[in-house]
Amino acid sequence: MWGLMAVSAVGFAVQSVPPYLSGDAADAVLPLNPDVALHYLSLTVHAVPGGLALALGPLQFVNRLRVRRPTLHRVVGRVYMMSIVIASIAAAVAAAVTISGFAVQVAFSILVMAWLYTLAMAYRSIRRGEVQLHRIWMIRNYALTFAAVTLRAYLLLGLQLSPSMEFEAIYTAAVWASILGNVLVAEYFIVQRMLAPLARRQQRRDAPLLSTPV
Ligand code: HEM
Repeated sequence: MWGLMAVSAVGFAVQSVPPYLSGDAADAVLPLNPDVALHYLSLTVHAVPGGLALALGPLQFVNRLRVRRPTLHRVVGRVYMMSIVIASIAAAVAAAVTISGFAVQVAFSILVMAWLYTLAMAYRSIRRGEVQLHRIWMIRNYALTFAAVTLRAYLLLGLQLSPSMEFEAIYTAAVWASILGNVLVAEYFIVQRMLAPLARRQQRRDAPLLSTPV
């Protein structure tokens, strides 16, 4: 799963960011708002650090690297955080001026807030030395970062499965599905792989106390 995630994250970043590096608005994949001169620039300032965060994220989940090279983990973590702060501010602008419709604006605005909130919580927990909590918040945060990849996957799937449907409807559904789907997968992973073992251990520890007659 990690390999699939890492390859698709890097692959998507390498393929989707270049149109926003040329400085030529005609290269934009998305239709731009003709009334907003800075629309293309907002997508560039969003996509470049967004792509960097997407590509760096998987490295941070490699246990061996984190244990053996803690300084590298810290440096990459800071670059990841700064990238998301810049990408999310630009995303808020892109969401405000997009011509993709109101439902898309609402979805991206929620995504921006959740992206920043989970990042802030991850940072706060590690500053307090709460390592497990930091991991949980980073899983949530990267699940949101990875929505950029699943969005395009759902979009391609939707276009293949429903060629007669309007592009805007498929795009809107793909945006919402990518956010909800990734959040659900992240929460499932957190509960099954992290919280359930802790809860079982706690229950085993409490069992003798609970079975003691009063
Ligand atoms: C998870 C938080 C993210 C939010 C809230 C967000 C928000 C947005 C918004 C509002 C747009 C314009 C959409 C439109 O006009 O319909 C956009 C486009 C774009 N985003 Fe993001 N994005 C996020 C993550 C990422 C990441 C991690 C990347 C990594 C490369 C990325 C790359 C792009 C690209 C390349 C575009 C231009 C559209 C395209 O060419 O397909 N985004 N994003």
